[in-house]
Amino acid sequence: MPANLISKKVMKKLAAEAAGVDNAKGDARVKEVTERLLYRIMQVIDECDVSMDEFWSAVGFIGKTANNGELGLMIPGVGIEHFLDLRLDEAEKRAGISGGTIRTIEGPLYVAGAPLSKGEARMDDGADPGEVMFISGQVRGEDGNPIAGAIVDIWHANSKGGYSFIDGEQAPYNLRRRIETDAKGCYVARTIVPNGYGCPPESATRQLMTLLGRHAERPAHVHYFISAPGYRQLTTQFNFTGDKYLHTDFAFGTRDELIVTLERVTDAQEIRSAGLNRPFARARFDIVLTKERANAPETIVQREHVIAA
Ligand code: DHB
Ligand code: FE
Repeated sequence: MPANLISKKVMKKLAAEAAGVDNAKGDARVKEVTERLLYRIMQVIDECDVSMDEFWSAVGFIGKTANNGELGLMIPGVGIEHFLDLRLDEAEKRAGISGGTIRTIEGPLYVAGAPLSKGEARMDDGADPGEVMFISGQVRGEDGNPIAGAIVDIWHANSKGGYSFIDGEQAPYNLRRRIETDAKGCYVARTIVPNGYGCPPESATRQLMTLLGRHAERPAHVHYFISAPGYRQLTTQFNFTGDKYLHTDFAFGTRDELIVTLERVTDAQEIRSAGLNRPFARARFDIVLTKERANAPETIVQREHVIAA
């Protein structure tokens, strides 16, 4: 069949009718979005001459993605989670907000309720053979003043790229901690260097990436939520210099401002005073939060988390 068989007028009319635009009931917001969405789907079908087989195959694929609990994985892979960040960045700019640490995607693998401690925490349970890493940093306001009592909620993958709770192989909350900053706004986490995350071999997300000629890997990264009374919550991550996938993150999470260079500590005395017997890695990640203010775009995202703990 050729493309462009149907006039815009016919598609617009059908989309509006299907979205209930001609009745006074229902939810106006749902109608508004549904109408536009339907119109665009119809346009794509008509422009690309999508066959019935292709269409139903796509419906099945989306269904499979949802049944696998993979929608949260798929969304970053197709760039939409990053797109939402770009929109929030722009909304902040227009509201005159600047100067905070840049955000990046939350991703689908956060688990709420990680153990909370003051000033410092050890995040790994000692079972992971990965390289020991100390992450330290200070949370500050835009004015440069340290923020004591900020909650730094950190989560990351193990040395195999797996997340506790998700991979079913790790102790509960392994590599997930909340640390309250000390009087100087500082936090220290002892943990292990994570590996990059790759989509599971049989996942619908990896299948789509392959069809798109893309890989399904993320560079190694460490996730953060940072919150403090009177400040706007921040969702971000950092990556590591030199990572193979640093600039081709399948989830579009890498941002130039969030790349950290690991310092390798080999000095015998430093190793001893860290309580270790082999070289380790050190990362520094400072965070700047912006103040809460009237009409600022919301940064706390309400979404279902994998497991509500
Ligand atoms: C995905 C995995 C992550 O670890 C992450 O941070 C973001 C996205 C994913 O599988 O889509
Ligand atoms: Fe992640």
